[in-house]
Parts: sequence; structure tokens; C-alpha cells
Amino acid sequence: MKTVRIGLAGFGTVGSAVYRNLNREADLILERTGILPEITAIAVRNPRKSRPGGHFPSALVVRQPRDLVKRDDVDIIVEVMGGCTTARDLIFAALRAHKPVVTANKALLAEHGRAIFGESNRLNVPIYFEASVAGGIPIIQSLRQGLVANRFHLIYGIVNGTCNYILTKMSEENLPFEEVLREAQALGYAEADPSFDIDGVDAAHKAAILASLAHGGCVDFHQVHMEGIRNVSSIDVQFGHLLGYEIKLLAIIRWQSENKVEVRVHPTLIPRTNRLAATRGVTNAIVVRGHVVGDIKLSGPGAGGDATSSAILSNIVEAATHLHSSSDDRSPAYLCAKGPEVVPISNVVSRYYLRLSVADRPGVMAQISSILGKAHIGISSVIQPEGHEGKVVPLIFMIHDARFDAMNQALKHIQNLQCVKAKPVMLRVESFES
Ligand code: NAP
Ligand code: HSE
Repeated sequence: MKTVRIGLAGFGTVGSAVYRNLNREADLILERTGILPEITAIAVRNPRKSRPGGHFPSALVVRQPRDLVKRDDVDIIVEVMGGCTTARDLIFAALRAHKPVVTANKALLAEHGRAIFGESNRLNVPIYFEASVAGGIPIIQSLRQGLVANRFHLIYGIVNGTCNYILTKMSEENLPFEEVLREAQALGYAEADPSFDIDGVDAAHKAAILASLAHGGCVDFHQVHMEGIRNVSSIDVQFGHLLGYEIKLLAIIRWQSENKVEVRVHPTLIPRTNRLAATRGVTNAIVVRGHVVGDIKLSGPGAGGDATSSAILSNIVEAATHLHSSSDDRSPAYLCAKGPEVVPISNVVSRYYLRLSVADRPGVMAQISSILGKAHIGISSVIQPEGHEGKVVPLIFMIHDARFDAMNQALKHIQNLQCVKAKPVMLRVESFES
């Protein structure tokens, strides 16, 4: 039996679940791996905070997160505080003290990954981050190990549980956005700042991490295009259904050519026959297209304490194995190298769903189709509900493949037409056929 002693930074949704599940499953882990994990110290922001619904081991609390690193009875650091300042300092301090790190902090890895992995490699102290993408789904392990012989031409997926929870409730129960967001927060799915979820930032963090792993170099997070779900309304979900589509917030990573990759996050209409369309609630699902294996779909709970702690416990075992075997288990060296160039969103080609609010009078359709025609943008279908003459009505266009800059330019002209009465809604449409 080999004991590994853990300093746990954070005791919120994820940290408290790590503590609970680690204690509950310690014997199972020992039986399977010969490793006995034990939490010996904990850092929180406010030790006096009331923490309903669980045992809080206040005797283990230290004053500062960095104190965890200094203690002789801590072998590895588990960082589940979130944020980019204290968490960054803690991780650097841990690596310099030769203590392996396990983290769920995708924001930190997406924004500062190059420096962190650089330090990890320089010092030969590994950092494990399975929980940073898609909660309980072992996607990092799959890309690094299970699919190691593949090049990844396409990865696309639902990687934000909060948004998928909200979109599912909008699609199935027609509930308002704000109410469902409050539910997702209460269930522990949302980030400390929920705008990270609904504005696509969290999914973009995860997309940057996946793109870096898949394409052999650190992708610059600031080049990732992100749009959230604030502008998706029930009417778009309903028209989507009428046309045979579901709306999902997707992260899309598509290899274009030598050293160029599309990395984007946006609400997307996907055919109801697509393998992700039926992904409901907090479930995440990722399709990986490997050139050897073909398409693989990984799916499971993408947020919440229990799901995330499952990934962290797996990383704790890896870190302990590294410590006890002195294996050369480095973080992937390429993550501190410059990654492929991200294709500017203006050059990305896709189909579109366009919803306009127009005055129902003669000539409107002609004006709009003339603008699209002049921009060489093809219309594949049109819907206008009947019987509202003289009123403002929704007018839906499904658009063939077009470059984003062309579409955007045309939209500016359309928006200026007198017959267009509200800001247009434009969503991308993807089918991901090979
Ligand atoms: P949370 O519920 O807000 O918990 C954060 C914990 O960290 C709290 O215990 C807090 O202390 C502590 N903390 C924050 N800043 C600190 C500081 N400066 N010094 C000491 N302690 C500090 O957050 P969470 O949902 O567990 O998420 C934690 C991390 O996991 C984040 O990086 C998040 O992105 C990631 N993650 C979350 C999920 C999820 O489903 N929630 C899934 C995957 C990854 P107090 O308790 O005293 O406030
Ligand atoms: N807020 C994140 C989500 C947590 O909803 O997916 C999991 O990373």
C-alpha cells in the first residue's frame, strides 16, 4: 500500500465532492491501484462560511493556499479554486516544490497554459487536467493515449453543461432563459461568474485546450471565436424544430490545412439526426474524427461535483503513480510550444439560419433576396408564417455555404432596410458530414 497525501485548494462544488468521494471510495481505489489517497490539508477563502449539506473538516484548514505547498504532509496539490491569480501562484509554487498538480481550472490553462506547461516540463513535474474539459468524460486521456495514432481532422462537441441544460429546457419545456439559468446555478453547474457559461467563454477555454492537445502546440485562446446563447430565443428553437434542427452551443475544431485550424464556439443548428442532437441537460458529448479510427463519440455528465470529482480522482491516482514509480510522466511538451494558427472567423465558411422581423408588405422578399444575390449568397429555403398582412412578421432564410465576412456585410445592408424592424438573428448551421 502506498499512501499519497493531498493538499486540496478549494472546497466548493468540486472540492467538497472530491473530499466526499475520495473518502467514500478510498478502499476501492486502494484495491484497484495499491494507492491510498488521503486529504491532509485544505484551503478555502472563508473558513467560517456556513456549508450546508456536508461535513467540513475544519481541523485540516490552512491559512493560505500556498501553505499547502510548504507542508511536509502534502505530496500533491489539487487545485479546485478557480480564477487565474491565486490559482496560478499556487500551481507555480507547487511545481517549484516538485509537487505534482491536479487541476480542473480550464480558464487558467487556456489563458496561461503555455507558461504553466513550460514550467512543468522544465522542472519535470507533471500537471494533470482531465477535469478541465467535459467534467466526467475522459476526453483528455482519450486524445493523449487511446487515440494517440490519430490525426484529428474534426472535433466538435457540447462542452458546456450549463448552456446545454438551458437550451434543453427551452427546447422541451419552453421555459424562459433566466429561470433555467438559476436552476443550473443551484445545481452547481455554472461557473462562479455565469456569464462565462452563457457567453461561450467557458466553452472557448475548453476548445482552446482540446485544440492544443489535438494539434501539437498551444493554441492562443484570444484567437478563438466565441458567441454565447444570450441571443437564442424560444422562437428560434421552435423554427429550428420546424426545419428539422436542434440548437446546441458547440465547440468546433476543424483542421483546415498545414498549420491552420478553425477553433470556434457558437450556437449551431444541427440536424435532428446528428448524433449530438439528442444530448440533453447537463450531458456533454464530443465527436472526435480520427484519420485512423473514424468517428468516436464520448458522452457523459459534463458538470457538477460528482462528475468532475470522478475525473480528479483518476488524476490523483496518476499523480500518485508518478510519485511512487519515479516514471518520467511529463506534461505534454508540445503544450508549451506555439500552436497552429487559428483561422480568422471572417474566413470561415458555413451555412446560416437567418431570422428577420419584417413588415409584411409587397416587395420585402425581393429587396432582401436582391442583397443576398448581389453578395453571391444562395438561399436554400424560406419560411414566413401566413396571414399577418401589414404586421411585423418573422421571416426565416436558410442560407447555403457562405463566408462569414460576406454574410456579415450583406446583413449590414439588410439591417438598414426600412422594412426590417428588429435586429436580425443569424445562427450557423452545420451537418458535419465527411
Ligand atoms: P466554487 O463552488 O465557487 O468553489 C471554489 C472554492 O475555492 C471555494 O471553496 C472557495 O472558498 C475556494 N477559493 C476561491 N478562491 C480562493 C482563494 N483565493 N483562496 C482560498 N480559497 C479560495 O467553484 P467550483 O464550481 O467548485 O469550481 C472550482 C473549479 O473547478 C473552477 O476552476 C471551475 O472552472 C472548475 N470546474 C467546475 C465544474 C463544476 O461543475 N462546478 C466542473 C469542471 C471544472 P470558499 O468556500 O471559502 O468560498
Ligand atoms: N460551468 C461548466 C459547465 C462546468 O457548465 O459546463 C464544467 O466545466
